[in-house]
Amino acid sequence: MLTEEEILARLKPGCICKGIKLHTILAAIENGADTYEEIAKRTNIGGGSCNSRRCRAKVTVLLEEHNK
Ligand code: FES
Repeated sequence: MLTEEEILARLKPGCICKGIKLHTILAAIENGADTYEEIAKRTNIGGGSCNSRRCRAKVTVLLEEHNK
C-alpha cells in the first residue's frame, strides 16, 4: 500500500512542460542520479518551453533534501 506521500508524488508535477510526474524524478534520485543532468537523462525532463527553469529549481531542492 502506498503512503500518502507516495500517492501525492504520483499526482504532483515534476516537469510541467513534459508532463512528467514528481515520483519519476524521485525514483531517479533514489536510484542514484545525483545531478540535474543525470536526472534529465534518465527521466526526459527539461528542454521544455520554460527552458528547464522550473524543473531545474525543483530538482535542486529535491537533491538538497535527499543529501541532508
Ligand atoms: S518544467 Fe521541465 S522543462 Fe519546463
